[in-house]
Amino acid sequence: MTPSAENKLPVPRHIAIIMDGNGRWAKNRGLPRTAGHAAGAESFRRIANYCRTLGVEYLTVYAFSTENWKRSEEEISGIMRLLGAYLKEALRDMEKNRVRFCFFGDLSRLSPQLQKLCNEAQSLSSEYDVQVNFCLNYGGRDELVRAAKSFAEDVAKGERKPEELTEQLLESYLYSADVPDPELIIRPSGEMRTSNFLLWQSAYSEYVFMNVLWPDFGPADLDQAIEEYHRRNRRFGGV
Ligand code: FPP
Repeated sequence: MTPSAENKLPVPRHIAIIMDGNGRWAKNRGLPRTAGHAAGAESFRRIANYCRTLGVEYLTVYAFSTENWKRSEEEISGIMRLLGAYLKEALRDMEKNRVRFCFFGDLSRLSPQLQKLCNEAQSLSSEYDVQVNFCLNYGGRDELVRAAKSFAEDVAKGERKPEELTEQLLESYLYSADVPDPELIIRPSGEMRTSNFLLWQSAYSEYVFMNVLWPDFGPADLDQAIEEYHRRNRRFGGV
């Protein structure tokens, strides 16, 4: 854990967030769901900046799941537009912010323009230290199936042997290879499910579920989640 810049409390190295409640936030205001996602994107900017100030090294956010394709065309294109706008802004401010961008998920289903922005953001930021992982067209089960397939392909090519497979080796086939597991996973909006998020990586994560909708989630809520994390007694299966 890294000491926080402001209050000297150790903060988790890696925080992951399920950005939930955008739709309900919009409905409560009589607005279209896309307005909720726009407010959610603002909330993400605020929290990503705050994480940087605190000294969090890795922030992983669930931006679009493999199941989110079931939503209306209008809602999907609204979310994709917001992501594109954010990535353009991130590319512009890259030298100032010094954030490394990484994407977990199968990007091939995204528009060629969005794929290009993702690839540019990832390759131009590879030398920076603080890392944001965007889970885009991501599903935890899908990630494990892909890892299993890649390993099987390497076995078929004669590059690996089945008996070589260990937890560590399997991890190297995941989108999150080289990223430490999140110590803390936050789900706002009152839902208490993992929804196919970081299934492998969350084996020992502390979950904090909060009754605030993502667009209303602010630095004080993150502080509260970190305080709750500190109250937990992490034993990793020991006594
Ligand atoms: C879940 O809330 C949220 C999503 C499926 C999309 C999240 C996307 C964003 C926050 C915008 C992405 C852009 C950036 C820059 C990060 P929900 O719609 O399921 O909410 P509900 O459960 O209240 O309906």
